[in-house]
Amino acid sequence: MEKLHSKGLNHGAPETDGITIRWAGHYDLVVGLLSKLAGGKWSPAQATLELAGLVPGEKVLDVGCGTGILALAAQELVRAAGEVHGIDADPEMIAVARRKAAKAGVDLDFQVGLIEDIPFPDDQFDVVLSSLMIHHLPGEDLKRRGFTEIRRVLKPGGRLLVVDFEPPTEGPLRLLLGHILGHHRMMENDVRRLTALAEAASFTEVEVGRTSHRLLSFVRGIAGQD
Ligand SMILES: C[S@@+](CC[C@H](N)C(=O)[O-])C[C@H]1O[C@@H](n2cnc3c(N)ncnc32)[C@H](O)[C@@H]1O
Repeated sequence: MEKLHSKGLNHGAPETDGITIRWAGHYDLVVGLLSKLAGGKWSPAQATLELAGLVPGEKVLDVGCGTGILALAAQELVRAAGEVHGIDADPEMIAVARRKAAKAGVDLDFQVGLIEDIPFPDDQFDVVLSSLMIHHLPGEDLKRRGFTEIRRVLKPGGRLLVVDFEPPTEGPLRLLLGHILGHHRMMENDVRRLTALAEAASFTEVEVGRTSHRLLSFVRGIAGQD
């Protein structure tokens, strides 16, 4: 179901150890289905926006934007005075996101790009968002490079908000998810561990917690001065 973009097999995608998804064309369907199963209210994008505090005029980057669900919703909040950009390692995801933006008549920049090599100059963004993507980065080193890059492109005082899957550590839901997901890396995801990476990348006021949406946790921080 998933692939590593390794040299020679990447079909024009940039080389990364990040894990991409083969089914970009069905991604929104799967997210919609999961939401329905969870009673219709579960949404990683909404969970992120509830915490992001976006206001009109802000310049926002969504890293690992996938099909652009979060970026498109963010654009409605920052409005015409603001700007939203989305990057993703997978050209197929970006193609879907661009089609959706064109269909919605929204001026939104989606480009193929990596969290470990963000294709923007320093000090560009008021806010960097990321939803359900950090667990696609195997190993601490890649995650560390990602956080350092996010810090670089944020203006001093800019906000980082990462939302990701975090299963309960025990109880019946843990057992059920273990049954469904087996030893999938999502079962080992612990968003609390990201606080050290955020602090190491010079974020201040780093805070971690559960979102109001089941199984989704967040880490956030403020880009400090270098
Ligand atoms: C589960 S999807 C999440 C998509 C979207 N953020 C959402 O919430 O629906 C994870 C995304 O991370 C992307 N990804 C994996 N490695 C990456 C990297 N190194 N840089 C940027 N994106 C990456 C994948 O291509 C995929 O679209």
